[in-house]
Amino acid sequence: MGITYNEETSTFKLDTLGSSYIIKVYQEGYLLNLYYGKKIPDTNLSLFEMRMPNASFSLANPVIGEHGFTPDSAPIEYGCNGAADFRISALAVRNVNGDDVTDIRYIAHRIYKGKPVIPGQPASFATEDEAETLEIDAIDKVTGLQITLVYAVFNNTNVMTKSVRATNTSENTMWIERIFSSCNDFPSMDYDMITLWGRWMKERNVERRPLAHGVQGAESKRGVSGHAQNPFAALVARTATEDQGEAYGFNLVYSGNFSALAECDFNATTRFIMGINPVDFEWTLNPGETFHAPEVVCVYTDEGIGEMSRIFHRFYTNNLIRSKYLEEKRPVLINNWEATYFDFNTDKLVAFAEAVSKVGVDMLVMDDGWFGHRNKDDSSLGDWYVNEEKLPGGLQPLISKVNELGLKFGIWYEPEMISPDSDLYRAHPDWCVHVDNRDPMLGRNQLVLDVSREDVRDNIWNQMYAVLSKNKIDYLKWDFNRNIADAGSALLPPERKKEFFHRFILGTYDLMNRLMTNFPDLLFENCSGGGGRFDPGMLYYSPQIWTSDNTDPLSRLAIQFGTSMCYPAATMGAHVSASKRTGYDTKGNVALWGSFGYELDPRNFTEEQIELVRSQIADYHKYYWLIRKGDLYRITDPFNGSNKAVWSFVAQDKSEFMVTYVTITKCEMDHIVIKMKGLNPNRFYKNEEDGQVYSGALLMYAGLPLNMMQMFKVNQDGASLILHFTEAREA
Ligand code: GLA
Repeated sequence: MGITYNEETSTFKLDTLGSSYIIKVYQEGYLLNLYYGKKIPDTNLSLFEMRMPNASFSLANPVIGEHGFTPDSAPIEYGCNGAADFRISALAVRNVNGDDVTDIRYIAHRIYKGKPVIPGQPASFATEDEAETLEIDAIDKVTGLQITLVYAVFNNTNVMTKSVRATNTSENTMWIERIFSSCNDFPSMDYDMITLWGRWMKERNVERRPLAHGVQGAESKRGVSGHAQNPFAALVARTATEDQGEAYGFNLVYSGNFSALAECDFNATTRFIMGINPVDFEWTLNPGETFHAPEVVCVYTDEGIGEMSRIFHRFYTNNLIRSKYLEEKRPVLINNWEATYFDFNTDKLVAFAEAVSKVGVDMLVMDDGWFGHRNKDDSSLGDWYVNEEKLPGGLQPLISKVNELGLKFGIWYEPEMISPDSDLYRAHPDWCVHVDNRDPMLGRNQLVLDVSREDVRDNIWNQMYAVLSKNKIDYLKWDFNRNIADAGSALLPPERKKEFFHRFILGTYDLMNRLMTNFPDLLFENCSGGGGRFDPGMLYYSPQIWTSDNTDPLSRLAIQFGTSMCYPAATMGAHVSASKRTGYDTKGNVALWGSFGYELDPRNFTEEQIELVRSQIADYHKYYWLIRKGDLYRITDPFNGSNKAVWSFVAQDKSEFMVTYVTITKCEMDHIVIKMKGLNPNRFYKNEEDGQVYSGALLMYAGLPLNMMQMFKVNQDGASLILHFTEAREA
């Protein structure tokens, strides 16, 4: 049983495979968050209910009296605004009287097998055997606001998910000012916070800092999750490392504005909240209506930051991503973008396909520029009909030729955008995201299309459907190349303008859902100026996301390491390009980590390059399932001036592993020993290169010294090697 309720102590115990989470219904129906951490058998946690109450003019509940309990210090399960809990609140709802004092108390609960969906939004899924759900109803008796806190625990992994529903049970309208999806009250502030910051071409850098008194965290108000911060945060023990120590990871399954905040208070305790960013948000809740806040995936482990990542990876692979390409090999693709930009036509693309058809590439992807009259980035978004000057006769002749060469065909779209120079804009100037009396800001010469509107979505969808249903298209890259300012929709009345951002992202999800439902066989890749919308919400729709527009393998090391903090390797689009800093072998070795492909002009490949590409694709097939289904171990990360990056994939049954070593900048000839991770110490492994056999114990505890040849090979800027070991009988 994952979830139990002890009536005597009025405590809920939520157990995953290795963690426990304990909630108490306290006096007057206050919900307390007594424990989250390594699995424990206890339910008597009365000592955990109290914290020092009088440190800062703390206030008392008049019924309970001034006897120790104050909402300001108590480990409140879901912190509310204005009712004597002065820490960052998860919930604030303004009522018909104009105040936003919000105070919810327990009224009922349900425990059931499986896990509910969140209507219209992405969320992880589970069978009835995999997960159990607890729903706690709590009501604000004064306003009639009912909150349902939804917790699902997984019995085969250390994952718990949280989400929240708000229902207006009153006869008056109310306005949600903030509704976070999760709230945790930790009893100390002895944690470091890990977040992922970035920018275009340099996404998801790992940043670790000790928690300090006050509020800290990561946020986006760009309309998308964004390049700048990722909706991920971890609180880890100060002493935690990659391989040991406590780590709590939180990841919001949402692609819009988010907020992940930790506040450390006067008691040196920590509240952590994650959810929709309350800045630029408000939601009108009429009588009888329900609002659904998105899901947070919570991971706990005491086996280090690496294990936290692996728990996320396995969970997303098994319980979030929906695609036939989880179990089927994904095609090796070639994308024309970096090689041609907008300058292509049918002949050029066919020549690309011809050049790669003999080396094992499976698919040609035609990127931006095939529609309207788009010859540079200043026109035609919204006009999703073929540019026949570039592609005479439409897509059909091109696709037939590509297919005849034995390749599949993929296409690029940017459905949520509109160019001022487009037929669509000329016909519907009010269909762009805008507010009254202001000329909306431009980004890459484009405006954002108001997909919060159903009529707009129908128009775009019909245009997309016409192309996708009439042509044999195997893959779709969905781009999003700017942030959203001037956030408003012509259809939203003034009092609802702050609903725009959330309505926009729901519109995006609706469009993606239409795509998935109508074309379930399509391989769907998300993108946003590289990796500007790399979040679990997007992974629910597409099994892979273009990780970054930066395809230089040495830059990619940091980007891929950072992204792996919570996202599986197979979700990261990774291409070999014409970048200059390394040779082709390292380009291939780094791209192998992700969803592999090429992004270069193949027409002038030398014989030597052809051989290299062939052998890279052979490696791709050789290691495919090991990388897709295996566990990622980060051995040496490329941050903090490190001159190398080393990582490995270990089969889940520990029968095989590969390790990749990349030198970023060469140094004086170090003696190089790679200490493997995650092997079975009692089993033996054969180095496929030289046939030598070693125990897992030796490979992990003593490590594998590189031989002289290997040392010379990797002692150059940008050099790399892969070692592959399979299980062997004892030597
Ligand atoms: C974005 C993407 C690129 C490419 C261009 C096309 O920048 O990240 O891969 O598709 O748009 O305009």
